Amino acid sequence: MEHIIEVQHLSHQFDDFVAVDDVSFSVEKGEIFSFLGPNGAGKSTVINVLTTLLRLQKGSVTIAGYDLARDPVKIRKSIGIVFQQETLDRDMTVWETLEFHGRLYGLERADRRERIERLITLVELETKQDDLTRNLSGGMKRRLEIARGLMTRPAVLFLDEPTIGLDPQTRTRMWEYLREVNEEGTTIFLTTHYMDEADQLSNHIDIIDHGKVIISGRSWELKNTLGQDLIYIETTDNVGATRIVGENPSVREVKKKGKGLLVMITEDGTHLLPGILESLQKEGIRLTAVNLKKPSMDDVFMHYTGKDLRDEEQPRMQPQARRTRR
Ligand SMILES: Nc1ncnc2c1ncn2[C@@H]1O[C@H](COP(=O)(O)OP(=O)(O)OP(=O)(O)O)[C@@H](O)[C@H]1O
Ligand SMILES: [Mg+2]
Repeated sequence: MEHIIEVQHLSHQFDDFVAVDDVSFSVEKGEIFSFLGPNGAGKSTVINVLTTLLRLQKGSVTIAGYDLARDPVKIRKSIGIVFQQETLDRDMTVWETLEFHGRLYGLERADRRERIERLITLVELETKQDDLTRNLSGGMKRRLEIARGLMTRPAVLFLDEPTIGLDPQTRTRMWEYLREVNEEGTTIFLTTHYMDEADQLSNHIDIIDHGKVIISGRSWELKNTLGQDLIYIETTDNVGATRIVGENPSVREVKKKGKGLLVMITEDGTHLLPGILESLQKEGIRLTAVNLKKPSMDDVFMHYTGKDLRDEEQPRMQPQARRTRR
């Protein structure tokens, strides 16, 4: 399999703060690859190094066959970027934004025109093409930024939090655009802190936290690592329940979650559940809630990082990353 991105032992510091800590991964040509992690995990730092915005400090990076340390200019020509922060010129129209970008990259006039028309149709901005970008809605701006990232027909499109702040419908449409773009042959590297985005969109997910890749794999592979089913229970005695349930040979692990316990099991939950309930009853422990389900990306994240990603979707406060010193 051909790797279009190859990253080895990448580290990045801001002064003595280690934002990215010995990260290695590779992206196959043609796939959609997600970096999933909470605020401050180091996602933007990685994407900024890969797209040449930050200087490569340590480690090696190859993109589209070019070495980042030797050929940053060639890499820049092979990629498209959509930043986390909006970067549109408010005084340009939709058409001008794309036209300007095309010129910047030396596209021929006829080529520019053809691509602009196609991209404006792709992101459904036909009726807005002569509007100033300042007058677009947030979702339209995001779509325009994606179109701009695609002007140069990049081998790899980098998107840092592509759907941040968008409503659910617009997000779903955005995923459709990205799938279309991907089907036309562009490899996509995206960062997100939305579980469902990583889960639904990508072929491959790396979970990153505190600057380190914690686990990597296809969505179903990550979920399978938690076992076949998950049982969530709330009881009158969680300490006792943890001990009793943990003794069952088909139980892999019992973890505290919120008010209750998450039980990871290695066989079909519908078969196992009655026995578990019986063993609790025998010890006089009552159940107040029970729920059987398949592992989700939330559970995967929770399992490997020890926290709920949703907890961190509160107002964007200072990053919670611990300051690790070297
Ligand atoms: N220019 C900088 N100077 C100092 N520290 C920085 C700088 N840029 C990022 N950091 C720190 O590096 C860590 C990683 O930041 P980064 O922006 O890569 O996180 P992220 O995963 O993209 O988070 P978010 O989901 O909030 O966008 C954070 O603790 C951040 O405060
Ligand atoms: Mg970021």
